[in-house]
Amino acid sequence: MYTVHVALTDRSYPIYIGERLLARGELLMRHMPQKRAALITDTAVAPLYLDAVANALGSAGVSVTPVVIPCGEQHKDWHTLNAVFDALLANHCERKTTLIALGGGVIGDLTGFAAATYMRGVPFIQLPTTLLAQVDSAVGGKTAINHPRGKNMVGAFYQPLAVIADTTTLGTLPTREVGAGLAEVIKYGLIRDPAFFAWLEQNIDALTARDAGALAYAIQRSCENKAEVVAADEHEESGQRALLNLGHTFGHAIEAGLGYGTWLHGEAVAAGIVIAARVSHHMGLISAADIARIAALLERARLPVTAPDLGVERYLQLMGIDKKVEGGRIHFILLRGIGSAFLTADVPQRALTAALAASVKRD
Ligand code: NAD
Ligand code: GLY
Repeated sequence: MYTVHVALTDRSYPIYIGERLLARGELLMRHMPQKRAALITDTAVAPLYLDAVANALGSAGVSVTPVVIPCGEQHKDWHTLNAVFDALLANHCERKTTLIALGGGVIGDLTGFAAATYMRGVPFIQLPTTLLAQVDSAVGGKTAINHPRGKNMVGAFYQPLAVIADTTTLGTLPTREVGAGLAEVIKYGLIRDPAFFAWLEQNIDALTARDAGALAYAIQRSCENKAEVVAADEHEESGQRALLNLGHTFGHAIEAGLGYGTWLHGEAVAAGIVIAARVSHHMGLISAADIARIAALLERARLPVTAPDLGVERYLQLMGIDKKVEGGRIHFILLRGIGSAFLTADVPQRALTAALAASVKRD
């Protein structure tokens, strides 16, 4: 087992990464203030892993309330959140009952927001079971649900007490979901870690083939990158954490524009990264060779590098309700090179329009 530390003074916590960790009740117990837990998962993950975790906790004397919600991004909404509150209340869950998120980013984000708000805040542990959740969403305390008008629009910063990433669970992940996770892994290389980007170019085939050693290193390095950024800018105030959203402003527009769940989040981020790279190129910041290198790596990860043709106007409209809008101006994350990202609102309209036009797929 490898441990990455998220250093946030009194809200610091460990990220445990390793094989067969789900059945280790003592790891969970270390971070639970009471022998009482609500285990929140979805209809796809429950048949695979709910019993293993519930049994491990049960053997350690923990009383467990399972809460199973429908799977899919379209259920990361108010209605499902309310169903979780209904279940917590019906089962008399208390202020010291730990909410455990067992699943991907949808479960982690929704459970985290439930934990932040149920009885004004209860203990929360992340058990991420997708690659995307293990490298990104389970770490850093961003929790949210979607609103029909915009992605992740209602939420809170609320840190977990621990993240337990059992890499064995990646064995049952659908192939498309592995690609979606790799989009966020590649993102770290692009924004701040050029050596990691080069390592990914060397090892991408091993990663898509789910080589255990390659995956473990990619998860560890991603978590180290994320932990450093979150420790430096927990609440996305200084601009450092915003860089983690490379490609996301465009990606969120794709997800909302097509309807949540049509493209996976990581897929939309991949196409969004290519648009951001093209905007950077149109502004004279990176070379055409850099765009080709980025697109080649994403394609080798089996990710889309062209975006759906929503129309430039619709993209601009959807991006206008992004969380990175300040004073009515959209803030973009652009690249100065591979491994160097920055935040700016000064993007000429023609660079944006040209990049969008060059990036869409027309039927
Ligand atoms: P997801 O949670 O929808 O999981 C993908 C699918 O895989 C689901 O159908 C799920 O049931 C299934 N699944 C999960 N684990 C499995 C396993 N081990 N075996 C088989 N099937 C499994 O999607 P995701 O990609 O994990 O997360 C995407 C979400 O994460 C988005 O809502 C996105 O906004 C959010 N996100 C949040 C942050 C953050 O910092 N909070 C960062 C990145 C993404
Ligand atoms: N995934 C972006 C963040 O955590 O800030």
